[in-house]
Amino acid sequence: MASIAVLGCMWGDEAKAKIVDYLGAEVDYVVRFQGGSNAGHTIVAEGRKYVFHTIPSGILYAHSQCLIGAGVVVDPFSLIKEIRELEAAGLTLQNRLTIDDRAGLVLPLHQMLDLGSEARLKDSKIGTTGRGIGPAYADLTARAGLRLGDLAHPRYLRQRITELYEYHHIPVATDELTALLANLKDAYKQLKQYISPISPILHEARQREASILFEGAQGSLLDRTWGTYPYVTSSHTVADAIGSGTGFSLRHIDKIIGVYKAYCTRVGEGPFPTELFGTLGDNIRITGNEFGSTTGRPRRVGWFDGVMAAYTARLNGIDAIALTLLDVLSGLDEIKICIGYESGGKTLSEPPAHHLDLAKVRPIYITLEGWKEDITRVRSFKALPHSAQFYVKAIADILDVPVEIVSVGKDRKQTFMIQAGGTA
Ligand code: IMP
Ligand code: MG
Repeated sequence: MASIAVLGCMWGDEAKAKIVDYLGAEVDYVVRFQGGSNAGHTIVAEGRKYVFHTIPSGILYAHSQCLIGAGVVVDPFSLIKEIRELEAAGLTLQNRLTIDDRAGLVLPLHQMLDLGSEARLKDSKIGTTGRGIGPAYADLTARAGLRLGDLAHPRYLRQRITELYEYHHIPVATDELTALLANLKDAYKQLKQYISPISPILHEARQREASILFEGAQGSLLDRTWGTYPYVTSSHTVADAIGSGTGFSLRHIDKIIGVYKAYCTRVGEGPFPTELFGTLGDNIRITGNEFGSTTGRPRRVGWFDGVMAAYTARLNGIDAIALTLLDVLSGLDEIKICIGYESGGKTLSEPPAHHLDLAKVRPIYITLEGWKEDITRVRSFKALPHSAQFYVKAIADILDVPVEIVSVGKDRKQTFMIQAGGTA
């Protein structure tokens, strides 16, 4: 497999990092193309837990190169913290990490704006991670933002930051500005060795047929355009973002794997048609440890939404499904899958674009038999209980895409492949 993409296809937290980590054993490059430190990617390997925010999780494999693309927004201070934490855990990053100088810069000002905007919105707040991601992307679009490459030009940097404060009509004291510039100078000293354009690296990698894995952050339903706007993140999370976020054409990607959780979760505000309230939702949240890895917030939980899932399978043009957290559903008497929406007497097979209309739909469910067995030790499709096999097949049928990878636990080893035909 020359180049593959692993994309979260719902509202994020589909356990993409686990799939990247599983496939990463065989790849030469792991690449992030969008988002920033709002992402929280958790991996458990050899009994040890790692949480990644900006650095691609492929860093766990000593042989793989990790690239952060131009489509990412980088908070230099949180990135340095992450680097130091990984170094303390015994990982080597030198000569293994490259960050594109076209990547956007997240500044303390952006975090302040993010929190301010959420406070102002009160009840209609987005429920952001508060990392300054939205304001950083907005500034880049307005051409007022800064990029990592600006750190190499101190005088220009000072001018641009001054202009940025002016743009936001926020006064900044000279000593505050001087302190910020000193901190950025120090950050640059630490990051300089990692900064370089990644597009030529990817081009060269492709020419010598090296394997490349593109790692999505967040999920398709948080895409700035295609998600549940305005309850979305501020980057594009669908497959198309790979090209613009890395300088590696989407046309050269051989396979797109869509990652779906066996049920749905969402953190933050916004419509969620299959959301479960009460003890059933609470139980799934606890069994699945559904608490945000960046903010620690409890995630909202719901049944698998086949309408949304089929929509994002199509948006991304996925070739295969990786189905995660299947083990969390063990022990339930019955499991539901949403196969359509009912709205105003009509049946919908496509999610309405407007969040107010989406908030009104009623899910149409099919009910499947659950299974009681613990499946965390299962390592093949055939060894799954029959009703779990049936559940996996139902999802493949609804999306009309094969399920190729199944995850039944947090550990790297608790993963197996399904051969074509779904019976291996
Ligand atoms: P922001 O990306 O911090 O601006 O947050 C916008 C929305 O995206 C909020 O609902 C967040 O909870 C959600 N979000 C951002 N990053 C992630 C993630 O990595 N996983 C799940 N939800 C996320
Ligand atoms: Mg996450």
